[in-house]
Amino acid sequence: METGLLHLHRTLGYAVFFVALIDLVLVLTRARADPRAASALDRVHKFGFMMPGRLNLLLGVVLLVLIPTSDLTSWWAWAGLALWVPIEIINKRLMGPEIALAKDGGTASNRLTLGATLELLIIVTIFGLMTARP
Ligand code: HEM
Repeated sequence: METGLLHLHRTLGYAVFFVALIDLVLVLTRARADPRAASALDRVHKFGFMMPGRLNLLLGVVLLVLIPTSDLTSWWAWAGLALWVPIEIINKRLMGPEIALAKDGGTASNRLTLGATLELLIIVTIFGLMTARP
């Protein structure tokens, strides 16, 4: 069972990383000023990034207990969990309001670009921690 869960956790990790990349591409191309692109970004961000990411946190904690190569003292895993907190804040304060503005026909500010960039950078950091397991 551990192997299956690890595969699932790793696959979701890759998926979340790629979606963070897609989010940034959408933001840098059309999503800031085009309501239809902003709606697509909204859906991709919610269902392709936030929800699988949250599920992966849960899987990560389960793995931590089950897998012999890590235990509750593995600081890198808790650091990975803690790094999700800024993502939730960015989602609430930067991405959410800016995406809503663009969906309503306005033009999102640089805060949207900042949010998507920070989310990608944080995911890359979590990825680094999970792979290096220092
Ligand atoms: C969205 C956040 C997360 C992402 C993107 C992520 C990603 C990954 C990836 C890609 C791997 C495979 C690494 C490799 O193949 O070498 C991995 C392994 C692992 N992750 Fe995460 N992870 C996340 C959150 C967490 C959390 C919150 C925990 C626990 C508190 C956790 C615990 C683990 C464990 C125990 C492993 C297995 C390490 C081993 O093979 O010994 N992860 N994670």
